[in-house]
Amino acid sequence: MDLQQLVAYRRELHEHPELSFHEYDTTKRLTAWLKEAGIRIVDFGLKTGVVAEVSGTKKGPLIALRADIDALPIVEQSGVAFTSKNDGVMHACGHDFHATSMLGAAKLLQARADELHGTVRIIFQPAEEVAQGADYVVKQGVLDGVSAIFGMHNKPELPVGTIGVKSGALMASVDRFELDVVGIGGHAGIPNDTIDPIVIASQIVASFQSIVSRNLSPFSNTVVSVTKFQAGNTWNVIPEKAELEGTVRSFQEADRELTGKRMRALAEGIAASYGATADFRWFPYLPVVDNAPAFEAVAREAAEAIGYTAVEAIPNPAGEDFAFYQQTIPGFFVWMGVDGPHGWHHPAFTLSEDALSVAANYFAELAVRVLAQWPAA
Ligand code: NI
Repeated sequence: MDLQQLVAYRRELHEHPELSFHEYDTTKRLTAWLKEAGIRIVDFGLKTGVVAEVSGTKKGPLIALRADIDALPIVEQSGVAFTSKNDGVMHACGHDFHATSMLGAAKLLQARADELHGTVRIIFQPAEEVAQGADYVVKQGVLDGVSAIFGMHNKPELPVGTIGVKSGALMASVDRFELDVVGIGGHAGIPNDTIDPIVIASQIVASFQSIVSRNLSPFSNTVVSVTKFQAGNTWNVIPEKAELEGTVRSFQEADRELTGKRMRALAEGIAASYGATADFRWFPYLPVVDNAPAFEAVAREAAEAIGYTAVEAIPNPAGEDFAFYQQTIPGFFVWMGVDGPHGWHHPAFTLSEDALSVAANYFAELAVRVLAQWPAA
């Protein structure tokens, strides 16, 4: 593995970040580098993003590796020499690292074709940051014929050479809600002639806090956050309406569903008891990243076989659209240690480029092992 070349690729991507579904130059670069390496491109008619394949000399199933490739609307303050040249756009989540690592894995797999019992499809996916890219590529048929999928997110908190592995829920479901509480407005000095939506919505916000503490298991990890509460525009008028918005994060589908149901029941019930109405709207955004237990052992073995350290991954309440793939086929998502000083989406986000060869080697080794051991369970 030519680490210097991977570093150069990664820096070029970092200098030219692009927002979700606008990764045109990124796609061009990745496609050119894949072609240069003699790696087969498979055309799924993607507007942005690219799919490649490496086939082994032995027959076997088709599995996929996935990297996301988009950047964020953030002004870069990392101070690196290869800082973003696209004003207000930055690879602040390390997707440049993911794309480059999977390109490295593709090259390694090509060199190891005689060890491969099947085919590895490498998906360079657009638009992860807006949670739409995975769904888009699935609809374009990219998962057709694929038996399992593997991916990663860089983890600044873990040292280089350490890989976080865990079965089951790794990243939370993400949902958004809106709530309108409608009462009757009027004079603030004569509240008995009104139905005050502020008082009612306040009761609803307080009662939402009982869902996690009273309806879900103490072992459940769910977050209910009301993040917007707007009502009224002056001091002496009771408004007609309060508008609320917020998010729910969960690590189990059943908790996710129950939380939404309880919120609706509380909002409608409390509003009705005061003679007001509640219009509760739920917008499903991302499912849980839920790792198939069948691949946990091989995910650890692959790390340890080539001298890296596998540790128990700590789940994270951010979302990841890798979850959409796992709704269709089994998949496994890991943390890749990159030893960075800042968390994801920080304007000074940086990572250790030594992790590029770790990630490339790890995913090549993982793909070889998964295919050799197929079926996993
Ligand atoms: Ni990310």
